[in-house]
Amino acid sequence: MSDNNILASARIDENKTAASASSANGWSASRRAFLRVLGYGAGAAMTGSAMASAAATPSSVLLQDDAFWARVQDMFVLNPNKTFMNIGTGGSMPRVVLDVFNQENHLKAMESASGYGTLAELRARVAPGFGVDADELAFSGNASSGMCHAILGLDWQAGDVIVTTNHEHSGGNIPLAIAADRYGIEISRVELPVGNAQSAATYVELFDSRIRQLRARGKRVRAVMWSAPSYKTGTMLPIAELMEVVKKHELISIVDGAHLPGMMAYDYAALGMDFMAGAGHKWQCGPSSTGILVIRNKLRASNPLPLPKWYPIHTNVYSRQARGGSGAASVDIAASATSCGSLHTPMFKSLVRACEMWDGIGRKKIETYDLALSAYLKERIVERWGVGALYSPKDDPKLVSAMTSFNPFKTPTDIMDGRKAEQFVGRMQSDFAPGFVLRKVDFAVVGAPANHHGIRISTHVWHDAGDIDRLVESMWALSEKMA
Ligand SMILES: Cc1ncc(COP(=O)(O)O)c(C=O)c1O
Repeated sequence: MSDNNILASARIDENKTAASASSANGWSASRRAFLRVLGYGAGAAMTGSAMASAAATPSSVLLQDDAFWARVQDMFVLNPNKTFMNIGTGGSMPRVVLDVFNQENHLKAMESASGYGTLAELRARVAPGFGVDADELAFSGNASSGMCHAILGLDWQAGDVIVTTNHEHSGGNIPLAIAADRYGIEISRVELPVGNAQSAATYVELFDSRIRQLRARGKRVRAVMWSAPSYKTGTMLPIAELMEVVKKHELISIVDGAHLPGMMAYDYAALGMDFMAGAGHKWQCGPSSTGILVIRNKLRASNPLPLPKWYPIHTNVYSRQARGGSGAASVDIAASATSCGSLHTPMFKSLVRACEMWDGIGRKKIETYDLALSAYLKERIVERWGVGALYSPKDDPKLVSAMTSFNPFKTPTDIMDGRKAEQFVGRMQSDFAPGFVLRKVDFAVVGAPANHHGIRISTHVWHDAGDIDRLVESMWALSEKMA
């Protein structure tokens, strides 16, 4: 489908579109120059659906196609009195998705329909966008539910060790704690770095050396679990590199990918992790209570390790064969993880519509746009506050995501005052019109006497460079007022 058809099928208000498109999406000559300095200005010009291909470059996506992104912005019903920059917590359904949700709910009520089934046809429509087969893509309740499916379904033995990090979300930490209490597993956490002075190799070294140390002490390391990206600093832990560590040590791999669907155009069969638990309601802009759970169900060159022994723990579809690691490749393992009594089918049909919209626009094109906005934001923060204020790395392309965390305070140690960070977030909404919706995130920093409470900003398809400029100026003004 061409870009024009995608947008037409979204029933955009053409008059409104023309008006906003003429504003060229905020990429003024000076901002364009800024991007060129960043190295975002040298790519080939492409238009239309050609940009949906993996060859799309930041310059082509940002600079050559302003009108397209202005039209994408118009697909959302977002309250114009606020600039929503907390997609890391929740996204927003576009109009077309809301329409599916409403129509399907109405139809379900009219026909008094049940929601039994494995949603096989719906999963088959979504799976190619994530690079996997339908039997490997399950719908879950959200990222947390996906993490429970993954962690609590494994056949843990007392004394098994799982290596993870000190920056995990409760969505992963809670099932880990349950597995520790119930099965006697041990949890070993590597301490993550923050800021720009890090590279993908840092993570390989951290995990590899921890696994070696544990094994040298006679520990039975069985699995590695990590968030990519970290919701705290926005650091993208490098999945491909960490999968090499996992394979070298023959371990089970669990990725808390809450933010991946809808942000990053990853091919999960090529990455080869055993589990990836993502949200459907954040960057993918599906309804709340939806998630995408990828479960490896076949051996590929990307991960030739045996499938881990895994049992569905929340299901009404089970047979001895419907179990990970059974070797029965024809078994639809994702059906077991999806089906559990009567499901909210309108909700999942709406998620599928959102996924199809992303596939139509081009997942790589969306990723490039989100990351370029985020790169622009990071450079604007560095320009004002200095690179030391960033918790997110910016220079290693393997470590970047569309979430940016930083310290806005003139007195840097104020970032250890959680109430002050909370006030900053509150005032960014109340003191400006439109107000900005941000969040604070607290995390340990190696060597710091207390947790830092960074300010986190998400950049997505409904933003443009003008939003970033206004945000940076507003944050700068507020940081001066709060000094
Ligand atoms: C890293 C991470 N994991 C899990 C979750 C939980 O997501 P959900 O609300 O989809 O369960 C979040 C939510 O912000 C997150 O950031």
